[in-house]
Amino acid sequence: MIIFDDKIDLIAFVDGLKFKQKTLGFVPTMGALHEGHSSLITKGLEENNVVVVSIFVNPTQFDNTEDLVKYPRTLDSDVALLENVSEDKIVVYAPTVEDIYGDEVSSISFDFDGLEYEMEGKFRDGHFDGVGTIIKRLFEIIRPDRAYFGDKDFQQLMIVKKLVEKLGLPVTVVGCDIFRAADGLAMSSRNMRLKPEHRAAAPFIFQTLKTAKEKFGTKSAKHVREWVIEQFERHHLLELEYFIIADAKTLQTIKRKSNQKSYRAFIAVYASDIRLIDNIALN
Ligand code: PAJ
Repeated sequence: MIIFDDKIDLIAFVDGLKFKQKTLGFVPTMGALHEGHSSLITKGLEENNVVVVSIFVNPTQFDNTEDLVKYPRTLDSDVALLENVSEDKIVVYAPTVEDIYGDEVSSISFDFDGLEYEMEGKFRDGHFDGVGTIIKRLFEIIRPDRAYFGDKDFQQLMIVKKLVEKLGLPVTVVGCDIFRAADGLAMSSRNMRLKPEHRAAAPFIFQTLKTAKEKFGTKSAKHVREWVIEQFERHHLLELEYFIIADAKTLQTIKRKSNQKSYRAFIAVYASDIRLIDNIALN
């Protein structure tokens, strides 16, 4: 497997692929790869000749230094996982902070038409400017035909689509289903940091989302929200940060239910100091 840590080499490699008219898929990640990531890569391999997987813990999207420092960095096992998916069609880009940012580690300020002020944007200051900055930079270096993002981070997916639309970038953004463990917990690099008791408790998050979806069929959004809050108030190990039912296009919190709109429920929960997010389509 080819692993690049220098953008100059990767740019030359991509030039070669373009010359041979090969199609290029791209899956950006922060590493600590799991089956959620591989599901995106598998889709990329089905639709492109070659897939670039970037592994880079992007400092500008962390509002919490401790979270950045503690973020797992497991390049060797990441490469082993990728070799199992495909030995010859995946290329890794694992740059240093300097290769991406030079000596100025800072974010561009974006206008994502309000998407950035909802949910994760409210609770993680500057997060989406950091995501926009790194994705723009990676798209410029890699120049993919298609880029794959998980519904797991639905707001991020919407923001990347908005970035591409606003900057007129020649890349198709493909959204991919949430990959879950057998007990329903959405796969996440953070799961490996959960203590056993919190890991055992965490499937409660998706169970609650599924029941919320059922209730949303007949009950008001307010009723569903109050019910979810109550479930977490009673829970000893999981602390609810937010539960929001929002318009799936604008991400604005629902005011009055309309049959014409699609809605999604979004949740963020603390299991001790580990923050977990999940979401579900409601209609
Ligand atoms: P990371 O959390 O590593 O996730 C990389 C991609 O994998 C994202 O598109 C994310 O939505 C997707 N993903 C993670 N868990 C998933 C799951 N259980 N099912 C489906 N897809 C899943 O998201 C980031 O990194 C970063 O913000 C990044 C986009 C790389 C920019 O730094």
